[in-house]
Order: sequence, then C-alpha cells, then structure tokens
Amino acid sequence: MTIRALHVASELYPLLKTGGLADVAGALPPALIERGADVRVLLPGFPTVLAGLADLHPIAQLGRRFDTPGVTLERGTLPSNGLVVYVIRADTLYDRSGNPYLDDEHVPYGDNAQRFALLGWVAAQLAQQLDPAWSPQIVHAHDWHAGVAPAYLKAAERQHGRALARSVFTVHNLAYQGVFPAHQFGQLALPDDFFNMYGVEFYGQLSFLKAGLFYSDRITTVSPTYAREIQTLAQGGGLDALLRHRSHDLSGILNGVDYAVWNPADDALLDTHYSATRLAGKLACKEALQKRFGLAQKSDALLFGVVSRLTEQKGLDLLLGAVPEIVKRGGQLVVFGTGDPALENGLKRVAQAHPESVAVELGFDEALAHTIVAGSDVIAVPSRFEPCGLTQLYALAYGSLPLVHCVGGLADTVADASLENLADDLATGFVFERFEPKGLAAAIRRAFALYGRRTEWKAAQRRAMRQDFGWGASAERYLALYRELV
Ligand code: ADP
Ligand code: GLC
Repeated sequence: MTIRALHVASELYPLLKTGGLADVAGALPPALIERGADVRVLLPGFPTVLAGLADLHPIAQLGRRFDTPGVTLERGTLPSNGLVVYVIRADTLYDRSGNPYLDDEHVPYGDNAQRFALLGWVAAQLAQQLDPAWSPQIVHAHDWHAGVAPAYLKAAERQHGRALARSVFTVHNLAYQGVFPAHQFGQLALPDDFFNMYGVEFYGQLSFLKAGLFYSDRITTVSPTYAREIQTLAQGGGLDALLRHRSHDLSGILNGVDYAVWNPADDALLDTHYSATRLAGKLACKEALQKRFGLAQKSDALLFGVVSRLTEQKGLDLLLGAVPEIVKRGGQLVVFGTGDPALENGLKRVAQAHPESVAVELGFDEALAHTIVAGSDVIAVPSRFEPCGLTQLYALAYGSLPLVHCVGGLADTVADASLENLADDLATGFVFERFEPKGLAAAIRRAFALYGRRTEWKAAQRRAMRQDFGWGASAERYLALYRELV
C-alpha cells in the first residue's frame, strides 16, 4: 500500500532557508518518495517560495481566514525534482521584507500566531479533501510553526466523529516554542477546552510547540541522544514532563545528508573537487578560502571554520575565548554567520585583533557555506545543545574533521580522536565533554596534535568521508512509523 503523507514546514531548501530545517524539508520528502511513499509538502507563501515553484495554479479559494482576506491554496512543483508543493497565498501575512519569523529589526512579527495558525489550519483542511484530487493519511508537522496542525486535526475529528489523518510531529529544536499571549488563543478558533494544561496552554500562555507535542499521534526528534535529553528537567524547556509522559510515542531519528547537494566530488558550488581517494583538491580549496578571507597563505596552518547561526545555542562565545589558543599555535579561524548582534560584534573585534589569522564575515550565503566547509581542516560546532546538527555531517563528508561538544546529535555522529579510537580506526573528529574553556582547549590541542601526524590525519579524513549519513536508513524509519499509524 502506498502511504500518502503531507509534510508541513515553514522553510524548504532550495526555496527558502534559515537553518537545518530547510535542508530536512527539502531532502526527506524525496527520500520517502524514492522508497514508495506518496509525499507532498505544504508551505506558507513567502515570496521566494512562490517565485521558485513551477506550474503554480489555484486549488481552493479560502476567503477570509485569520483576519486576512483573499487567502488561496495553490499547488505547484519544485523544478529540480518535481516534488508537489502546496502553498498558501496570503500576501498580507507572508509577503514581508524580513526573514520568515522576524522583521528587519530581528523582532518576531506581532501576528506570528495568525501567520502560523493558518499553516496548521490548512494542513488539517487538506486532510478533509480541500484538494479533491489528493488527501494525506499522515500529516507530518515540523517544529512549532506547524505545531497547531495536529490540534486542528483533533478538533476536526471531534466534529466529524471519526478519525481523519494521523499525525507525526517532529521537534527540530525545543528551544523555539512559539509562545503567545493567552488572549491570542481566541483567534485560532479551536474548541475552548483546548486551552488547558492538557492542551495548548503553557504556564498561562499559548504554545504552538506544546500543541504539536500534545495532539500529535507520534513525536519524533532529530537524534536519539536529543530524544533522551529533552525528557530531562535540565534540557526539557519546561516540557520534559509531557515528553516523559509521551515517551512511548517519542523516538529519535537522525537527520541525513543530501549527498546530491553536499558532495566534494561534484559540488557545483566549488571550483575544485576532491574525494576520499583523491584528496589533493582539498588543498586548493583551503588556499582559495584563505585568499577569499584575506588570511595568510600558509598551507600548513591548521584552519578552523565555522558556518552557523550566531545564537546562544551555537556556543560561539566559548570558541571566542579559545581564539588566543588557536592563534598561539599557528592556527587560523574563519567564521561565517549571522544572528545575535552582540555575538557578531564580539567576533568582529577578535578578527580585527588578529587580521592574519582570524576572519569573520556576517551574512547568509549557500555558496560561501560550501566554500568554508570544503576549505577548512576542522569545522567547529561547539554548541551548548544541538538537536541533530547538519554542519558536522557536511564536514565529515568533506573530510573537514568536526570539533564538537558531546551533546545531542553531535554526540551521535562524531567519534573523538582519543588514543583508543585512533588505535581502533574509529576517530572522525574532536569531541569535548563539558561545555567549559578547559574542555574546548583540550579538544583544540588534540586537533593540533593529530594535524602534526599527517598520515594519521589523512586516515581520519578518509574515514570521515566514508561515513554514510545518507537519508536511506532514516527515511526507512519514518516509513515504518507511518505504517504503524495507518
Ligand atoms: P541549525 O538548523 O540549528 O541552524 P544545522 O547544523 O542543522 O543547524 O543546519 C544549519 C544549516 O544552515 C546548514 O545547512 C548550514 O550550512 C546552514 N547555514 C548556517 N549558517 C549559514 C550561513 N551564514 N550561510 C549559509 N548557510 C548557513
Ligand atoms: C534545528 C536544530 C539542528 C537540526 C535542524 C534540522 O534547527 O538546531 O540541530 O539539525 O533543526 O533538524
């Protein structure tokens, strides 16, 4: 039997991306389709989404919804692979100049509850024949943006007196909870009793994330370790009790890498290519990177790269403190990212202090991200917490040994270059246990030590590049979950 599943998300690579969620939304549906599922996607009609789809045509006029007139549902396809995408056209809600969630001043839009309630509501409508030609058996909602989809489904089921689609809710990041003042609950047109401790109410407010966690039939998150972590008081973001209560419905399924996009042997965004058996091209990538960022052209300087959202989560404040250690040992550092202005300024200052060795650039650019992952010797991901993390997986594929904090998906995917792991041919990077300067400094020290033994370094690079983090195994696990549900 072919399973019909609708993925509901706020971003999707290559149409719109602010982080790893877009990579997952862009790669998981095709991987499921390859394995026989009938998968479509629902997205809000942000300008780049509407502009990037082919064959867009209206499916349904939805009239005035969430105080917004003239809402329509359209259907199109992704030109690169033919993926069918439903998109909600509601220009007053989605056609804005900032990013999908924040305005130009980095402040969340005041009407985010309506903007994303509409997304969840339309998902539930699609499970009720909004498109006469297709309806899903599974609604798979991603993060708080789609969190109310399972709530709308449950409300509709109550109204119809029968089950509609089953729902899966995937937590990509428990730190973003979509919390709004209680009075906005009225705008959602959900049954009154849903505003309840056993429902969408969260410490007196309205939480979209909790809606997803409470009303979905199954919960997944993006790595096994994170699935355990979020059930603890320390890392449960106030939702650990609910998560423990639902532990039988909760599983951790690791994200994968789309090797069609991230492969150093044929990466369209690189000038020089290389592979595990032909590593020489990587040096040319390093030289190009040093040149691009105005660093000293030293081929034997250990080059650390960072490509990251600049937020508290990513732990770059800890890395800032370790810059003297890197510089003192003759290393270099390139940081590329955007986010928190205080962190941006701190990084800029460090770069000014060490112009030959440290470069910082602010921005978001897919091609530059590839250039840095390819040209670095080490990719640092010192996150305080990390649900899965894709950057370290890309780094492995590019033979750029990841240096990571032992947490979440980072712990599940990188093996430290300890003596025993080296002896057993397991080492693929550098892992520090405690989020402290000492631990990070020791991991940096291990990176320099291994770099001094070029044969072993190359062996670790090749091992990293041969790891298989493709979507295959994970897509099979999602499919098994769908089969259990339908
Ligand atoms: P998160 O989703 O928490 O940001 P992930 O590691 O899962 O972390 O995914 C980050 C994704 O965003 C990767 O594809 C990474 O290359 C990309 N990325 C992060 N910062 C930038 C940037 N400044 N420019 C381009 N891509 C970026
Ligand atoms: C989130 C997490 C990141 C994860 C990504 C995709 O943004 O921070 O760890 O890899 O989602 O699931």
